[in-house]
Amino acid sequence: MAGDKVSIHGSWASRWVFILAATGSAVGLGSIWKFPYMTGVYGGGAFVLMFLLCIALLGLPVMLAETLIGRRSRQSPANALRELALEAAHSHRWSWAAFAGMITALLILSFYSVVGGWSLDYIVDLGRGDFQGIGAEQAGRYFADMVSDPWRLILWHTLFMLLSAWVIARGVVAGLERSLRIMMPLLFVLLLILLGYSLTTGHFMAGVHFMFNLDTSRLLDGLLPAMGHAFFSLSVGVGSILIYGAYMPKNSSIAGTVVAVALLDTFVSLLAGLALFPIVFSAGLNASEGPGLMFVTLPLAFGNVAFGQLMGVVFFVLVAVAAWSSAISLLEPMVAYLVERTKVSRLWVTAALAFICWFVGLGTVFSFNIWKEAKFFVTEGGAFQLYQWGAAGGLDVFGVIDFFTSRIMLPLGALTFVVFASWVMGREAVRDELAMRNATLFAVTFFLMRYVAPLGILIVFAAQLLK
Ligand code: TRP
Repeated sequence: MAGDKVSIHGSWASRWVFILAATGSAVGLGSIWKFPYMTGVYGGGAFVLMFLLCIALLGLPVMLAETLIGRRSRQSPANALRELALEAAHSHRWSWAAFAGMITALLILSFYSVVGGWSLDYIVDLGRGDFQGIGAEQAGRYFADMVSDPWRLILWHTLFMLLSAWVIARGVVAGLERSLRIMMPLLFVLLLILLGYSLTTGHFMAGVHFMFNLDTSRLLDGLLPAMGHAFFSLSVGVGSILIYGAYMPKNSSIAGTVVAVALLDTFVSLLAGLALFPIVFSAGLNASEGPGLMFVTLPLAFGNVAFGQLMGVVFFVLVAVAAWSSAISLLEPMVAYLVERTKVSRLWVTAALAFICWFVGLGTVFSFNIWKEAKFFVTEGGAFQLYQWGAAGGLDVFGVIDFFTSRIMLPLGALTFVVFASWVMGREAVRDELAMRNATLFAVTFFLMRYVAPLGILIVFAAQLLK
């Protein structure tokens, strides 16, 4: 019987631990670092609205799909898709999607670890008091100096990767719970304190206005980025949530749990935006500044309030923990797969994969310094060039990896998972696994999975191509 399988990697002690782990995966740099800077780049309210719509209509159904696929099969993504497809008399080739997902996860982790390293660096900088009484211009220079030094970035990138690999090597189920139980709630409290600071800047309403004022002319601009980021933020599209679902106890309700995780994740993103943008405006910074946004604004807050030094250290420790618990979920699908498939031990599998990610991550490290001028996909003066050194437009190596993973691979992965659950496994399997008491609610949920999410994803792609 499909419902009675057990996972060889262990399982969560309770539904509560699944919530903790899935929230740990979802809440991370995506909410605190990426969401605010993308909101800035894509024009505020229009992006936020699209992001929220994508979370609700596309992200949630996909997250449900991934969780239930995982729990039904109790295996890593590739084996899960293979086995469930065969059970439903479909092609085993569905598992190829999971391989694409693993590679995507690896690529995401490569830059994720670099940025996680920035937060480690800031823990030390804040602790030393580097930001005491700092002004906006100095904060900007501080960040620029940090990223211009490849060795400094490599040091922290390496440390971050080692920390993540260490937990994975010991097994996720054992390692995560202890660390997250205290850290996640604390992160929340610190964000609220930051929000309190933003209220005192006198520009709080400017921040609110920026985030929620709708500029309809920019709606289409941010649509694909918003969709990609909705999946990124919820950790769906590569099998992270699938593998966590595989460790979920049988008797817990998937739907309620998944909705709780998505709400928490969205809430943290909005909170981070509301905390950051007032600081941006009061300091006269540029909202569309890009990946440095959080690392330039927060020192201003922590450098200029009582106990800022201590709070800053605590805050960046929590950001690092949030990033670390997300990084783990990026590596786990592939580790679990190789542990299932080969005779190599978990330790060595983890070490090898972490090394590959680390190595690819050097590309992101160099994007901010020695390869800063290397630009891809340049369209200057109407002419397209694949690569040009020193072009004004185009994407750097980090930009290329981010674009390829978030805007192309995550939506495709998400599409595959949701189609797999609703079309291949089918209504009865989904009904059995979700076990919702309310029939109408199930009908709506299934409709979202079967039609709204797949068509929605395709429409966003089409809209982008036609633009
Ligand atoms: N969701 C995490 C964040 O917002 C990052 C993450 C973890 C992720 N697992 C993922 C993104 C899987 C995409 C796919 O920081």
